[in-house]
Amino acid sequence: MTRNRSYKSLEKEIMSNKKYMLLNKESHHGLTRLEHSLRVSRNVYKVAKKLNLDYVSATRAALLHDFFFNEEFESNHGLIQGVVHPDIALANACGSFKLNEIEKNAIESHMFPLSVVLPKSREAWVLTVVDKLVAIYEYGLYKFNPANLKGYLKYVSYTASFLFILLINFITMGEK
Ligand SMILES: [Fe+2]
Ligand SMILES: [Fe+2]
Repeated sequence: MTRNRSYKSLEKEIMSNKKYMLLNKESHHGLTRLEHSLRVSRNVYKVAKKLNLDYVSATRAALLHDFFFNEEFESNHGLIQGVVHPDIALANACGSFKLNEIEKNAIESHMFPLSVVLPKSREAWVLTVVDKLVAIYEYGLYKFNPANLKGYLKYVSYTASFLFILLINFITMGEK
């Protein structure tokens, strides 16, 4: 693992890619997908470093976890987009950067439990948890509309389901 990489140097490396910077024109949670990705990656960097994990891989995966474009979903909407977009993000990321296995799995599994791919590393778990917390924060801040309570509850129930599965996973961890 590379030691002492600053967050800014990791961000700069990914943001030097022209295709990646087009995320600045994509809408996401009421802001742009680039802003969302940077918020997730800044927090993943802090948490992964604090936990003494491979924070370089965790942060790179966080920067790239939503590397997809709305035009890539002509016929898919809502739930299907939620399931499919990690694979598209991974393909786009691999097309522009050389990724290790931790980074690939973290991108592919970040929508767990919506996606069927399991997070295989603690770095991937950090990404999937931080992404959901940031999504709740961004929805609350930029997109919450009391008139759309039904749609909002969908995300609350999804988050509650995720936390329940996470709890069961920790409780049963190590059992044979
Ligand atoms: Fe995502
Ligand atoms: Fe995300």
